[in-house]
Amino acid sequence: MRYTISYVSTVSPDLSETDIADLMSYVKQHNNFLDITGILIYSDGNFLQVLEGEKETVKILFERIKKDPRHYNIIKMLDKEIKDNAFSKYHSSFTVISGHYSHTELQQFLKKEENYNPEHFKSISYLTQKFMKLL
Ligand SMILES: Cc1cc2nc3c(=O)[nH]c(=O)nc-3n(C[C@H](O)[C@H](O)[C@H](O)COP(=O)(O)O)c2cc1C
Repeated sequence: MRYTISYVSTVSPDLSETDIADLMSYVKQHNNFLDITGILIYSDGNFLQVLEGEKETVKILFERIKKDPRHYNIIKMLDKEIKDNAFSKYHSSFTVISGHYSHTELQQFLKKEENYNPEHFKSISYLTQKFMKLL
């Protein structure tokens, strides 16, 4: 059974654009290594992240992320099992997007979620589009 945790948070004021870009590239690379799929969006001083993967891996990772001083006000929105889909991890890599110029990446991510995790798709689609102020 795969597992998902999703949250929003506020970026620390002393983080520069370069720090954020560095974080995004680290997260993408490390999550692909950990077999974690999902998305990290940075927009208007806030993060929204969806982590999907093996339950223990997701839970341990979230505990580490919560302690990271680069963000605060962490509000968890989803914490639940998702239907195991043997295909999902082979068809997606972790997505990172920043700002308002990333609609294409978001649409591609949502398309994959719709195909491989149709039940999970509804809540993810709502949360991410609301966060990006598209709804
Ligand atoms: C908003 C935010 C999201 C993060 N997401 C991830 C993530 O998905 N995967 C990851 O490995 N690290 C993520 N990190 C970084 C971790 O908090 C941590 O710095 C990193 O895993 C290295 O941990 P270590 O220094 O204990 O080895 C994130 C950090 C922030 C601020």
